[in-house]
Amino acid sequence: MKLQNDLILRAARGEEVERTPVWLMRQAGRVLPEYRKVREKMGGFKELVESPEFACEVTIQPVDILGVDAAIIFSDILVIPEAMGLPYQMMEAKGPWFEKTVQTAADIDALRVASGEDLHYVLEAIRLTKEALSGRVPLIGFAGAPWTIFAYMIEGGGSKTFSKAKKFLYTHPDLAHKLLDKITQSTLNYLLAQVKAGADMLQIFDSWAGVLSPEQYKEFSLRYISRICDGIKAAVEVPITVFAKDAFFARKELGLIHCDTIGLDWTMDIAESRALIGNMKTLQGNMDPCLLYAPDQVIVDETVKMLKAFGKHRHIANLGHGIYPDTEKEKVKLFVNTIKEFRF
Ligand code: CP3
Repeated sequence: MKLQNDLILRAARGEEVERTPVWLMRQAGRVLPEYRKVREKMGGFKELVESPEFACEVTIQPVDILGVDAAIIFSDILVIPEAMGLPYQMMEAKGPWFEKTVQTAADIDALRVASGEDLHYVLEAIRLTKEALSGRVPLIGFAGAPWTIFAYMIEGGGSKTFSKAKKFLYTHPDLAHKLLDKITQSTLNYLLAQVKAGADMLQIFDSWAGVLSPEQYKEFSLRYISRICDGIKAAVEVPITVFAKDAFFARKELGLIHCDTIGLDWTMDIAESRALIGNMKTLQGNMDPCLLYAPDQVIVDETVKMLKAFGKHRHIANLGHGIYPDTEKEKVKLFVNTIKEFRF
């Protein structure tokens, strides 16, 4: 089906755009009361993720309510560890929790390489969403970067430092590579299956990139992200975004991998990032999500400043990380509308 609004895809490919496209990380859920209603009806987060009709409904909500230029499939990066053999639970107000974690070589051997079919409920949600969107905007598929998934598999949940996962890199580097390799194969299978089911674009989230040293980042993260990008590009023609939160030290190297767009967080200077990454990539971001607590005029002024700093081409407007749950819907709309109304 032909897309009526393909601004994001054109921006990712470096083509001409009439205006800067915009979407928001974590736009599905979190801030929308309409989401909370569906979630209550379902009983919990996982039930929602695993019910394609409802996942489809909350995926489309931000397109209808916020007017963003793309939908992102409602799911989580943690479906991959689960498909490999480590089920997760989403604890109310606490976040993810894994009953089993990876500690030994035997634990790694016991994990499966996930196939796309293991995540049939996400693929079905993608098919339903594509149909329901009927070409209004592109649909983004996603996965966690292998390092970020590895970190959850070792820690068994969130952490400020991810010191257990980092300890594993120092004490068992060979086993770490073995696990990262299994996660990478699973993630590649999963992302290719998402494209086959209808995803128009892909994003890889490396949320915990910033806890590694530059050297470790190259060895234990970038190498695997790069392998995923190469695997996707060898099979299908789809734009890929890599978002490595807090990895300011790796921007130059990120500019060299086979992806189309690099996501920036708000700590990364825009001109400096452009100079480091070069002109062959689109940049995505990078407003501080806390700007959306500011008075309206501050939101408008800062948003216009950001748009001008990125320039007309090769920019996809977004926040520098996911939107915070207590953000007012009207402030989010103001951010989105300011971008949509701005002309160079
Ligand atoms: O972006 C979207 O709107 C699509 C859906 C999406 C979710 N998680 C739904 C979700 C996406 C893209 C993710 C990615 C994700 N999940 C990341 C990478 C992005 C990032 O923020 O860095 C990470 C690290 C996770 C792991 C995760 N999932 C955590 C730590 C938590 C708990 C804290 C939180 O973010 O709310 C989740 C839960 C989660 N994933 C929720 C949603 C809507 C909240 C669950 C609820 O409804 O109670």
